[in-house]
Amino acid sequence: MRKNIVAGNWKMNTTLNEGLELAKELDAALKGKAINCDVVIGVPATHLASIAAAIDTTKIGVAAENCADKVSGAYTGEISAAMVVSTGAKYVILGHSERRAYYGETETTLKEKTLLALANGLTPIFCIGEVLEERESGKHFDVVKAQIEGSVFNLSAEEFGKIVLAYEPVWAIGTGKTASAAQAQEIHAFIRQTVAAKYGATVADDCSILYGGSCNGANAKELFANPDVDGGLIGGAALAVDKFMPIIEAF
Ligand code: 13P
Repeated sequence: MRKNIVAGNWKMNTTLNEGLELAKELDAALKGKAINCDVVIGVPATHLASIAAAIDTTKIGVAAENCADKVSGAYTGEISAAMVVSTGAKYVILGHSERRAYYGETETTLKEKTLLALANGLTPIFCIGEVLEERESGKHFDVVKAQIEGSVFNLSAEEFGKIVLAYEPVWAIGTGKTASAAQAQEIHAFIRQTVAAKYGATVADDCSILYGGSCNGANAKELFANPDVDGGLIGGAALAVDKFMPIIEAF
């Protein structure tokens, strides 16, 4: 069954205490509210265990923002999928455009990360999306297709059924320039068709495809009203409960 999901991505923001306060505030804001989507927060690795212990994780899923492409061993500074799971986190954001651009993540490393996340029982939120130049030259369909094919089309249908996709056009991230509802629907429908061509209509229909990039309380309703937009991956607006709640309540 396809789920509607609103996921925050805190990126490299908040100290541990600030993050704990933010997570507790969100937990309190959601208490007793009828919510029509799954809620996830992607938080810095240093915060995972404390936040998972401090909130109701049946209401708010906790996500790591990355994990290693190796199982364990001499990889100084890396955090494995098993370590992420041991904190109480249930999700991991993989392939964010910032990690691709600044930390050299490739389709090959992302393939490994996805397999390890799944093997450890984490739900990957797998990010794809084109840069402005690719959009302006009409290459965005080819770019997202290649990103999906190169990293997650090696999965079995059963494995693929466990991942969430997030389409985040890089030109819309942190810029205040959101994709229009029509642009989002067009490419989300294309992504779903691409998945259907590989895994069949049922797997494609069950796959949640989130939109990310300057999504906020004012535009979420229109974006989420599209048949192929199943929620959002939210950066800036996830850092304040009064900005994040209206996006959750857009469903
Ligand atoms: P903004 O919502 O700040 O544009 O960030 C989107 C994003 O990158 C979420 O992963």
